[in-house]
Amino acid sequence: MNIITPTADGSNTLYNETIGEHYHSKHGALQESKHVFIDAGLKFASAKQAEISILEVGFGTGLNFILSFEYCEANKINLNYTSIEAFPLTSEVIEQTAYSAYVPESIWFDFINNYPNALTVPQKLTPLSTLEIPHTTLAEYETDQKFDIIYYDAFSIQHQPEMWSDEIIAHACSFLKPGGTFVTYAITGKLKRAVKACGFTIEKLPGAPGKREMLRAVKGM
Ligand SMILES: C[S@@+](CC[C@H](N)C(=O)[O-])C[C@H]1O[C@@H](n2cnc3c(N)ncnc32)[C@H](O)[C@@H]1O
Repeated sequence: MNIITPTADGSNTLYNETIGEHYHSKHGALQESKHVFIDAGLKFASAKQAEISILEVGFGTGLNFILSFEYCEANKINLNYTSIEAFPLTSEVIEQTAYSAYVPESIWFDFINNYPNALTVPQKLTPLSTLEIPHTTLAEYETDQKFDIIYYDAFSIQHQPEMWSDEIIAHACSFLKPGGTFVTYAITGKLKRAVKACGFTIEKLPGAPGKREMLRAVKGM
């Protein structure tokens, strides 16, 4: 059961009763998504690029997606967004988040109208943007495609330690192109060692409100 809960910046999140965790930071869902994934990830990796492919781990409510979609449309960047989700939410629950308030109406409707089909077949939302949400676990996910960015947005190591093992991090990183960018809201010694072992250069960046630091890592060429 997921319960809609307000966060400190006024945006909502969901509280997952089974896992015992929120989908986003309780210090601000919108702020966290913008800070970690859009500013430190997408803006960093897409500078001077006309095309970007993103692999997200954990689609959840789609907040990271709608902000990325809006940014790419506004900047005429071709977006190919794939987001692995083991437990997809219903469209009704996603609509209850009220995230439609944070993007133009056309962006919201292109997303929400295509969401159910994106869970089974890649959907072309606009001439520039495609969304695909493989309904599977990260461990079972396989593709020949290589991505420019990974948004690693799994539940925390305290609540879902299997999503932070060295093996699963290496599996996720194997889908990134050389020179590609891995971003996540978390940073631990174990995570830094796991990412470095995959040949990445790591950077500690200031975290979103409520977190001192976050991790950005770039894959060796
Ligand atoms: C922190 S939430 C993601 C929040 C999301 N990015 C958003 O903007 O709403 C973690 C997500 O990972 C999903 N998840 C849990 N176990 C998973 C697994 N083994 N593989 C892929 N996704 C998983 C959960 O269902 C949840 O949607």
